[in-house]
Amino acid sequence: TAHLSFSERLLAWFDRHGRKDLPWQQSATPYRVWVSEIMLQQTQVSTVISYYQRFMARFPDVRALASAELDEVLHLWSGLGYYARARHLHAAAQHVCSVYDGVFPTDLEAMQTLPGVGRSTAAAILSLASGVAEPILDGNVKRVFARHAGIDGWPGDVAVQRRLWALAETRMSTTRPGPYNQALMDLGATLCTRAQPRCEQCPVRGDCVARLGARQSELPTPRPR
Ligand code: ADE
Repeated sequence: TAHLSFSERLLAWFDRHGRKDLPWQQSATPYRVWVSEIMLQQTQVSTVISYYQRFMARFPDVRALASAELDEVLHLWSGLGYYARARHLHAAAQHVCSVYDGVFPTDLEAMQTLPGVGRSTAAAILSLASGVAEPILDGNVKRVFARHAGIDGWPGDVAVQRRLWALAETRMSTTRPGPYNQALMDLGATLCTRAQPRCEQCPVRGDCVARLGARQSELPTPRPR
């Protein structure tokens, strides 16, 4: 076990401790994963679940969502907050139907033409639904990488962002892209948390630069002010 790579250790942890029974992990189509990723952007898993199930019951596919009135979409969203997400979701469904004939794009560039879908969300959809090896980098994952590799500097800085994306690319699992990306998000959400990280339970603590230097509370570097 002394020679396992970052992704191998993370995947072994995920196989034992990761969540594999969430609603959007069942028949994980691009449409279902996309809706879940937008809901999960600013909202916790525990809150999202019931909203997700109501949403999918009413809009089971992208055509159902595209042909709905925006008011009904916003009504189903009420309580989740950040309503721009619901407006983007509705607009993106119409985009998929009118430009891509109801079929989600299969490449990262095209996926990012959808309103509300940036590089990380596009990569999450492609990897979780289709097994495409594209790295993700959301807020939680930036924290995992900043700590593990000891990357200093505010992650909002473009130079820091470039280093984080480069690291995300080199560490990407090509054998199990979906589980690897889900494991990264789960690690950031459950163990490598901002305030009280549970390092004792972390599968990659052995070579974590932040932990070795007792710098967990300093990384990632806060926004300069
Ligand atoms: N946050 C964003 N995407 C997520 C996912 N797939 N699982 C858990 N938390 C997330």
